[in-house]
Amino acid sequence: MDGNGRWAEKRGLPRLVGHEQGAKSIRACVEAAIEAGVEFLTLYAFSSENWKRPAAEVAGLMRLLERFLDEKVKEMKKEGVRLQAIGRLQELPSSCQRKLAEAIASTETNTRLTVVLALSYSGRTEIVEAVKQIVRESREGELSEDDITQDFFSAHLDTRNLPDPDLLIRTSGEMRVSNFLLWQLSYTEIHVADCLWPDFGKDDFFEALADYQKRNRRYGGI
Ligand code: IPE
Ligand code: MG
Repeated sequence: MDGNGRWAEKRGLPRLVGHEQGAKSIRACVEAAIEAGVEFLTLYAFSSENWKRPAAEVAGLMRLLERFLDEKVKEMKKEGVRLQAIGRLQELPSSCQRKLAEAIASTETNTRLTVVLALSYSGRTEIVEAVKQIVRESREGELSEDDITQDFFSAHLDTRNLPDPDLLIRTSGEMRVSNFLLWQLSYTEIHVADCLWPDFGKDDFFEALADYQKRNRRYGGI
């Protein structure tokens, strides 16, 4: 979800206003995803690298996350949305962690759409953590080299209960992956939308899906 800062700067507004506006785009995408029958929607809300931003912006983003959780859980329950999260959640402020855990627990049995928030997320860190976990398991006992298959490795990532994404939508015209789901994106189709994230609406979501439908996925075959 890229372009909040530029959206605000273009209007001479503080960056946080852009983030607030960006949070509103989430609703449109969730609605569009439900209408289209999408089962999993992962939102890259805050990367590990985003901690480097000025403290006031980081604090504003965390407040926004809490507000989002406070305000949206009721709606998610009504719409049958299940909330999940990936990333180093232990690095979030404790009040965020608590609200997130509550929201996840209270939407656990919903089945219509799973919304995954990537928070304090880094694809490389996720891979390194999986390797460390596998080393620990191997030290503890009966793990042989042949046990380490792609499926085994995937099962050690934060996304162990989620399918690999079919489509990656990147906003604000940037052509990079930015440390997002590095392992999981190996055969994901990429759609780059030129508009900034706060301007991204339902129509843009449907346009991305239409673009995806034109792709011929060969997975290295012919
Ligand atoms: C939102 O957009 C991404 C978040 C970290 C929430 P940016 O804040 O990256 O916006 P730009 O790239 O400065 O425009
Ligand atoms: Mg950006």
